[in-house]
Amino acid sequence: VAPLKVGIAGLGTVGAEVVRLIEQQARTLSARSGRGVQVVAVTARSKAKKRKLDLRGVAWAKNPLDLANDPGIDCFVELMGGAGEPALSAIEAALKSGKSVVTANKALIAKHGLRLAKLAEKHGGALNYEAAVGAAIPVIKTLREGLAGTSVHRVYGILNGTCNYILTRMEQEGLSFAECLKDAQRLGYAEANPSFDVDGHDTAQKLAILASLAFGTAVAQNAVYVEGISSITPEDLRAAEELGYRVKLLGVAVRTAKGIEQRVHPTMVPKSSSIAQVMGVTNAVTIDGEGIPPITLVGPGAGGAATASAVIADIADVARGIRAKPFGRPVEQLRVTSKAPMERH
Ligand code: HSE
Repeated sequence: VAPLKVGIAGLGTVGAEVVRLIEQQARTLSARSGRGVQVVAVTARSKAKKRKLDLRGVAWAKNPLDLANDPGIDCFVELMGGAGEPALSAIEAALKSGKSVVTANKALIAKHGLRLAKLAEKHGGALNYEAAVGAAIPVIKTLREGLAGTSVHRVYGILNGTCNYILTRMEQEGLSFAECLKDAQRLGYAEANPSFDVDGHDTAQKLAILASLAFGTAVAQNAVYVEGISSITPEDLRAAEELGYRVKLLGVAVRTAKGIEQRVHPTMVPKSSSIAQVMGVTNAVTIDGEGIPPITLVGPGAGGAATASAVIADIADVARGIRAKPFGRPVEQLRVTSKAPMERH
């Protein structure tokens, strides 16, 4: 079988790591997916930037759209980020030409996921986005495939590595919010605009995606109540501790009689609870399903290597010929049952 020809748009922290891993793991990847995987073309904002990557034999496309339209690639990997252009048009073009798409872009999936899923369904390509939520934790697959036989009534957890890293260091070292945020940026955890992390929007996007997969509903990011952590001080954390609690930024989605309730806010959790033990950049997602005890997935939620690991898994699925429904069922069967966000008090 001819190798899967991959084109990668975006060579930042994640993109560069994906190129490296594909080369490093070429043999295992081919053995596990039954087909070789080869990066044949890339595009990035700056071609001149030093990257410590061996890109000999790899073509440079002029821009993401050109790469997406390149008939020489089978799989378009979008690692640029951003809820709109140029990622959106490029992904649409790739899907329309029947290619498969792998992306880590939660903002785009949360906003345009249904439209893109329809295109994938119509033209037969895959739309895989495991890296969009929980980085290396296979939470999309778990909800979409692993729990296909379980009726889920609640999914919740710590979905932003930057916030959990900041809260952990503020609590353990008494450092200021600003200082911890700077370190999270330096370590490559934070979004380009860190307000998305600390104001809770990144968690909200991830939660909306998880809720859609868990409940078979249309992604409804606007229905999420959002409150971030930027006004929390080390003193708040100390006061909570004295009462036997830790503060975590949680995303919670619950099925209620009136529709799906989705919310993101700092929450006091008892120090002895398992979610209180989740420290640093780690994410944790708990899924409550009918008739089975809760399932919790814990692992690295941000960073180049952790995110690249999920991107590679998605590419391997494309190489295997798997074309899962992006939201676990046909788009037209996704119901709209989200409740309006709760009032701010
Ligand atoms: N900025 C995100 C986080 C990256 O801190 O969790 C992973 O989505």
